[in-house]
Amino acid sequence: MNELYPKHVAIIMDGNGRWAKSRGLPRIRGHHAGAEAVRRLLKGAAKFGIQWITLYAFSVENWKRPAAEVNGLMSLLTGFLSANRKTLCDNKIRLRIMGRRSDLPDAVNRLLQSVEKETARFDGPQLILCLSYGGREELVHATRQIAAEVQAGTRSPDQITEKTIAEHLYLPDVPDPDLIIRTSGEERLSNFLLWQCAYAEFVFLPEPWPDFDENSLKRALDLFASRNRRFGGIVDRHGSSIVSAPDAP
Ligand code: FPP
Repeated sequence: MNELYPKHVAIIMDGNGRWAKSRGLPRIRGHHAGAEAVRRLLKGAAKFGIQWITLYAFSVENWKRPAAEVNGLMSLLTGFLSANRKTLCDNKIRLRIMGRRSDLPDAVNRLLQSVEKETARFDGPQLILCLSYGGREELVHATRQIAAEVQAGTRSPDQITEKTIAEHLYLPDVPDPDLIIRTSGEERLSNFLLWQCAYAEFVFLPEPWPDFDENSLKRALDLFASRNRRFGGIVDRHGSSIVSAPDAP
């Protein structure tokens, strides 16, 4: 295992529709092939020692898609969880959810809650599914909670720091992603992890999500490992200074 590999990888799984269209198939077939890619990813992630995998599975904007596609995605999700529940347990992977859960159909919420509960005891790798998720909505959610605390008199405005905001996000205990991957050649964040992405590295891969395999993952991880993350400072994460003169800018 490469110690320079990221611990937290977040993925915008894009290109299912185009993958299907290029084969003359309905879009939902692309999503089904995308679910297979998620299964492959879970195997690869374990091999490479990734601790947190966050997947942008359904955005707040995705509700605007035709009802048949939305319903197809919801049943794909429940089918995937039912079929892979044992794999999650056997591999001690904890399932977490981020997003506006109240938007989700009751049956989906019930299944999610049951798998979350069953896997809550695992303290190893986590699979985080972003469902009805939007980065701006997450910040609105945090802001409302903080405003309520100020209104209740339990916090004063000058006590609001970056830490306060981070503590009011959906999953405050999860560290920021080290690496964000987007497939299908698009180079946008699309309202994903807007607060948490501050120091993330980005890797954009040309292949559509259904074609994502272990080689794709390794390519992204190797690119990450080859980069110098300095977090605004001048010392890289291997501990060596990247400037030789002490008075260098
Ligand atoms: C974006 O591709 C993908 C989605 C909106 C859904 C992602 C869902 C899956 C990968 C399958 C199920 C997930 C799990 C966790 C089981 P797109 O439809 O926008 O593709 P396009 O840009 O080519 O149209």
